[in-house]
Amino acid sequence: MTSELLDPLDLQIESRNQRRSVGRLWQLVRRSTRLVWGSGRLLFVGLLVVQVVAALVLAGQVLVVESFLSAVLELGPGGGVPSVLVAATLGLAGLMAAAALLDSVRGSMSRFLGESVARRTYQDVLDAATAVSLRHFESASFYDRLQRVEASATSRPFQVTQALLGIVGGLAATIGVGAVLAGIHPVLLPLLLLGGLPMILTNRRESRREFQFTVAQTPHQRQRYYLSYLLTTRDEAKEVRAFDLGGPFRERFDELYARYLADLARHLRRRLALSTAGNLGSAAVLTATLLVLVTLIGRGAVSVAQAGAAIVAIRMLQGQVQALLRGMQSIFEAGLFLSDVDQFMDLAATARDEEEGDPAPPAFGEITVEDVRFSYPGSATEALRGVDLRIRRGQVVALVGENGSGKTTLAKILAGLYDPSAGAVRWDGRDTRTYSRVSVRDRVAVIFQDFVRYAFTARENIAFGRAGKCEDARVAEAAGRAGAASFLEALPAGYETILSRMFKGGRDLSGGQWQRVAIARAFYRDAELMILDEPTAALDPRAESALYESLRAVLAGRTAVFISHRFSSVRAADVIYVLDQGRVVEAGSHEELMAREGMYAELFRLQAAAYLGEPGVPQAR
Ligand SMILES: Nc1ncnc2c1ncn2[C@@H]1O[C@H](COP(=O)(O)OP(=O)(O)OP(=O)(O)O)[C@@H](O)[C@H]1O
Ligand SMILES: [Mg+2]
Repeated sequence: MTSELLDPLDLQIESRNQRRSVGRLWQLVRRSTRLVWGSGRLLFVGLLVVQVVAALVLAGQVLVVESFLSAVLELGPGGGVPSVLVAATLGLAGLMAAAALLDSVRGSMSRFLGESVARRTYQDVLDAATAVSLRHFESASFYDRLQRVEASATSRPFQVTQALLGIVGGLAATIGVGAVLAGIHPVLLPLLLLGGLPMILTNRRESRREFQFTVAQTPHQRQRYYLSYLLTTRDEAKEVRAFDLGGPFRERFDELYARYLADLARHLRRRLALSTAGNLGSAAVLTATLLVLVTLIGRGAVSVAQAGAAIVAIRMLQGQVQALLRGMQSIFEAGLFLSDVDQFMDLAATARDEEEGDPAPPAFGEITVEDVRFSYPGSATEALRGVDLRIRRGQVVALVGENGSGKTTLAKILAGLYDPSAGAVRWDGRDTRTYSRVSVRDRVAVIFQDFVRYAFTARENIAFGRAGKCEDARVAEAAGRAGAASFLEALPAGYETILSRMFKGGRDLSGGQWQRVAIARAFYRDAELMILDEPTAALDPRAESALYESLRAVLAGRTAVFISHRFSSVRAADVIYVLDQGRVVEAGSHEELMAREGMYAELFRLQAAAYLGEPGVPQAR
């Protein structure tokens, strides 16, 4: 399995190429059985038993109807009620009650089973979503698939469960009632089964249409979800109001919805046409069957009582054959989604392959980045175009450069989140790709520009730096070093305060306070290599200088790479790398770079002059 994602278009092609075949049905039944079996075997077996018993009850009903009718027909005036008739009546009532009871038992059991299957599927999907390689998150078709799989994770498992039970129940009942019908007259059965044929022909086409419709709608649906997210979330609410974007967004949302409804109407009309054709075909065959029955009575080949029972049987069979076909249709329909899910899981499996390899050493003496190139998936231009650098243990290394020069991209590669497209990152000479990526990431603490503000407690926001047991003393220490302790302790519930207004008792923080919490998270991780992407952008000058003072103490001989646009903090770094358009153009200490009179010196002077308000400095480059 390649890790390449299929486009929605490919999926459509794929669905078109899937032959409607007994083989495919069998394969799907097996796949579904595996899924349902894995989620609740006892319940599943119980339900199968219920289905078979229900089928026997149905067949029994037909037999009882026949004896009931013949007893009624033999009833003479004033002759009293024969015991056969009483027994048949009671039997019929009993069987009908049993059928109703079995039905509700089946309803409850299959609901619970469906929910268990849904839970299992959801677990698998979420496991896969957290395991897949980060680069998939750069791809729109990945999101489409994720959304489709996630949306179907709640509904499709029910469908699969119901379909499977429908097939088993329908098959059992068809055999049971069919045997009774064949006993009445052999010609009736094949005729009736023939009635299912038109529906078989139309069903698969319908399910394929359904899947294609979903595939085609997913991108629009995602846009819709995004718009409704913009309109309903708190952080976005202020900007949406400030720029008065509510109206335009609503309009777009309505437009998308209207288009969806129009598409849905067209889709439903097509589906309706198909199913009507199938039903009409079945009805024609049924009419023929009834005509045959009438002819048989006329010829005396069947008695009137038998004919009555046969009509009941035909009625039942019709329902059962339809249940069987519906089950098959459902399973074909769910089958396309199941393979969607399977392919999604395969992505996670390939991601797990990437996790193979020796564990990275606990520490390194030197990291070398050799001629590293990187382009984002689906992007034609390279974000990094041959980067070389060297980071020795214990150093504080700064990356500077203009917006879009590749600093964050380099940080992601150093953190083991992406593999370089070419070149290598080596720890003491060994390519990090030969280590398991999990272990590489384990040695690194990275805080990105767009770090996450978890709507959990302050303590958790810091302790998430290293998953596992939370050590309160270390949380406090990390907070102290990041300059977050004082304001966190002052919160209503101290470290236990939820850092979001979304939840009761929660409090929000200022931008700079959040940044300190994020830095505390990195400190808490206590990793060999710390990467901070613009850690001080939102910090006030006093906090910034305090942070850099504490940085060396926190590092205690470990290594830091930080990215900053503020040259005041950059100048204290041991080595500064200047990036420009995906390349390192200068490297050295502050003094060396200033002496070089290159890009660094120019940018540094520009900023310094702006602070000092020197005359004659151009306002823009
Ligand atoms: N997810 C992405 N998909 C495609 N291209 C990307 C992605 N992220 C960044 N890029 C591109 O890669 C290049 C380098 O981006 P990067 O984020 O590394 O810049 P940066 O130096 O961190 O900039 P800044 O100072 O603005 O943070 C840019 O041209 C950017 O447009
Ligand atoms: Mg950046």
